[in-house]
Amino acid sequence: MRTPTDLLSVGEVAARVGIATSAVRFYEDQGLITSERTAGNQRRYRRHVLRRLSLVLVAKRLGIPLSEVAEVFATLPADHMPGKRDWDRISRQWAAHLEARRRELEQLERELNGCIGCGCLSLRRCRVLNPGDALGIEGPGPRLLPHED
Ligand code: FES
Repeated sequence: MRTPTDLLSVGEVAARVGIATSAVRFYEDQGLITSERTAGNQRRYRRHVLRRLSLVLVAKRLGIPLSEVAEVFATLPADHMPGKRDWDRISRQWAAHLEARRRELEQLERELNGCIGCGCLSLRRCRVLNPGDALGIEGPGPRLLPHED
C-alpha cells in the first residue's frame, strides 16, 4: 500500500499528469522539476512534482515560455507543493503577461488591417513585415549586412 511520502516513478508521474514520460524527462532537463535516483539509477519523484507539472501545463496553454516558468519556479519552495499564496502570485504574474500579449496582438491586428487588400509585401513599407523599422530611414534593403555598392 502506498503512502503520501512514497516516491513516484517517471511512468507514474507521466500517467498522473497526462503527459509522456519523455515530457517528464524534458521538463526535468529544463530544471523545472527534480528527481532522486534509486540504487539502480532510476528516477524517483516527490509528489509535489505533480503540482509543478500541472503549472507547466497551465503555462503552456497560456503561451508562457518555459524560461518564464523557470523564473517563477525559482521563487517557489523546492521541497514541497506550491500553496494557494504561491498560486495567487503566479496567476497574477501570468495574467499580466497575457494582458501584454493581448495588446501586442491587437497592435498586430491593426497593422495587418492596413495590409489587407494591399499585397505589396514591401520590406520597406509593410509594418507587419518590418515592424518598428528604425533602419528604414537609411534606405531600402538590409542595412546591417555587408553589401556591394
Ligand atoms: S502588404 Fe502592403 S503594407 Fe503590408
